[in-house]
Amino acid sequence: MSTHSRTTRLTVPQLVAMKGQQKIVSLTAYSSAFARLLDPFVDFILIGDSTAMVGYGRASTLDMSLEEIIGHTRAVVASTRQACVIADMPFGSYQESPQQAYRNCAQVLARTGCDALKLEGGQALAGTVEFLVQRGIPVMAHIGLMPQYVNAMGGFKAQGLSDSGASLIEQDARAHLDAGAFSLLLEGVAEGVARRISGFSPMPTIGIGASPACDGQVLVTEDLLGLGGSRVPRFVKQYADVGALISQACEAFAHEVRSGQFPEPRHCYGVS
Ligand code: KIV
Repeated sequence: MSTHSRTTRLTVPQLVAMKGQQKIVSLTAYSSAFARLLDPFVDFILIGDSTAMVGYGRASTLDMSLEEIIGHTRAVVASTRQACVIADMPFGSYQESPQQAYRNCAQVLARTGCDALKLEGGQALAGTVEFLVQRGIPVMAHIGLMPQYVNAMGGFKAQGLSDSGASLIEQDARAHLDAGAFSLLLEGVAEGVARRISGFSPMPTIGIGASPACDGQVLVTEDLLGLGGSRVPRFVKQYADVGALISQACEAFAHEVRSGQFPEPRHCYGVS
């Protein structure tokens, strides 16, 4: 079992220092129970806006509010002691201007106690990233397949498959590194692109559907546990079928209730 035994929470500089030393492990969480279970195994927990889809059953990540992200992030911070905690900034909360981005990012950091924020966007967002970083907000820049751009991209499609597409993503990466991003999240990009960016980037690259060439990997936890429903991306390996366990437990409970076997005395409150 690959746990770590940190006595304090991993910081952003410590995460950056892992590049070239140790692969970085990350999973998403948005509830207290999941965060507590993941904490000993991951370097950072991401409160992804994918919660809109896997947690709330919505069609895309566009419909995620700042208040929702703040609520979920508070639950994760309160239930963890070791992992660095990074929250996604929701669609519309940072794209308007560097000032709008700062106001909302500062609010998330201050009200949740998380360590850093993740923003989706290419070169056009680099000015905002620089503005935030210069004001003390650590930014992970999410490039490649950006779910908040689903309408512009015409669906959730792998990016950088053509030479020109690959070169655009590499330019996005360089722009964010120049702006001071502490890490690049590469989603749905070809292995060659991920390898080249990871090669020139002094900051860690975190991949999702972007090959093992990245410095670390993140997955949506529900997807690897068999709780992702019908929308699990093809590249995801399912490590357990927790969905089946939940069904079994619910079936057993329903059976006990309907057959008059519940509650057994030893499970009653106040009876040892
Ligand atoms: O929202 C999310 O969970 C993410 C991952 C796909 C990296 O951004």
